Amino acid sequence: MRKNIVAGNWKMNKTLQEGIVLAKELNEALANEKPKCDVIICTPFIHLASITPLVDPNKIGVGAENCADKESGAFTGEVSAAMVASTGAKYVILGHSERRAYYGENVEILKSKVKLALANGLIPIFCVGEVLAEREANKQNVVVSAQLESVFDLSVEDFSKLILAYEPVWAIGTGKTATPAQAEEIHAFIRSAVAKRYGKAIAENTSILYGGSCKATNAKELFANPDVDGGLIGGAALKADSFKGIIDAFNA
Ligand code: PGA
Repeated sequence: MRKNIVAGNWKMNKTLQEGIVLAKELNEALANEKPKCDVIICTPFIHLASITPLVDPNKIGVGAENCADKESGAFTGEVSAAMVASTGAKYVILGHSERRAYYGENVEILKSKVKLALANGLIPIFCVGEVLAEREANKQNVVVSAQLESVFDLSVEDFSKLILAYEPVWAIGTGKTATPAQAEEIHAFIRSAVAKRYGKAIAENTSILYGGSCKATNAKELFANPDVDGGLIGGAALKADSFKGIIDAFNA
């Protein structure tokens, strides 16, 4: 059966010291309970090596927010998938809309990032999602299908390791959340696209997270949908209590 997952995306927030405090608080908050979902925190690169040993690996997985599309070499400022893995991190967010929009990441670049992440034992959290104009033109399925091409040339074995995240760009950091019905509709579409490409069994086992202004107050109704398997959380992941509130949506 597929997993329920709540993953935090810290983005470019928190100094190392602040990040350590947040990771410790979250670890503490989960110390005496068994969350009913997998919990992941994706942090800036420079936090990874300090944070991975601080959290209970049975409760909190740690991931990066990006990795390079090249293996190694003269690429000043880049961080490779092998480097991420060497910190003890297990996950990497790839294809986030901010990377696509501000850093020109396209289908081909993302294909390469996904392959390198998998080759280095990382689990990609692969994001798709449309911008507002595309949603208004009812093009969301077309857009998401094109974005999925980055992962649809993987072998069945590799694809089955992925976590997918649907994040409508118009809902990210805007306070505007997709309605549970809107989320379910497109999650079901994504699952059907996976089924078409890899078969029903793989599709049924793929976790598809919702992201975009998800918080403790709306998580429960979003996660109650059959095809929404958890959330990728930005703003509400920056405080232990609000992030814990989202994890608790699976307990209620
Ligand atoms: P948000 O961000 O929760 O702040 O909307 C989600 C994301 O971009 O992953």
